[in-house]
Amino acid sequence: MKQKNNMGSAKFITLEGMEGAGKTTCLKFIRGYFDALEIPLLITREPGGTPFAEEIRSLLLSPREEKVSDEVELLLMFAARAQHLEQKIMPALQSGRWVLSDRFTDATYAYQGGGRGIDSADIERLEQMVQKGLQPDLTLFLNIPIEIGLARARGRGELDRFEQQEVDFFERTRDVYLQRAEQYASRFVVIDTNRSLDDVYESISQALDQFVKG
Ligand code: TMP
Repeated sequence: MKQKNNMGSAKFITLEGMEGAGKTTCLKFIRGYFDALEIPLLITREPGGTPFAEEIRSLLLSPREEKVSDEVELLLMFAARAQHLEQKIMPALQSGRWVLSDRFTDATYAYQGGGRGIDSADIERLEQMVQKGLQPDLTLFLNIPIEIGLARARGRGELDRFEQQEVDFFERTRDVYLQRAEQYASRFVVIDTNRSLDDVYESISQALDQFVKG
């Protein structure tokens, strides 16, 4: 976080990506990168990251008959985030440990803002209330053509509540990610994952080298 992180040198990194963009594989690579440098890294995820927030995750992701309103979805994302921040992310950063979160608030702007169409001013209010100025120091966004990513994600088996959305939902989601990547260019790195794994790893290494080693 920009303000509180300045208390120490611990950094807050987020990983974002379109469905089927290869987040899990890249996460393993990133873990290896930090292990090699002997920088202790707490890897966590959203929605989730604590037992209570993981219960909220199950509520959010499990497909159900009952319609879940967009506002409820938004509030639950931030409820999980508030718990995650207080119980896990902030204590780690304050103790000097680097944190990597598999998704964070950029996902809310992208999915609830872009995908669902919620006004970004509403998201911003919750962001301020819950994060109190905390922003990631680095965000890696894994980008892939929607159809290719969805085909990969859908090949994995049962679909969660988000994976069941139509292609245009993901188009809007991706548009917001890319807009934010431009708006917050100092912390965002967009990585095209529709390439060989070696090329993807090379781009991630470059981004991390620049961030970690200056
Ligand atoms: P994932 O573990 O595959 O990233 O799944 C989490 C899903 O939750 C993914 O479809 C994106 C969605 N999501 C939101 O809609 N808003 C958010 O704020 C976050 C963190 C995730």
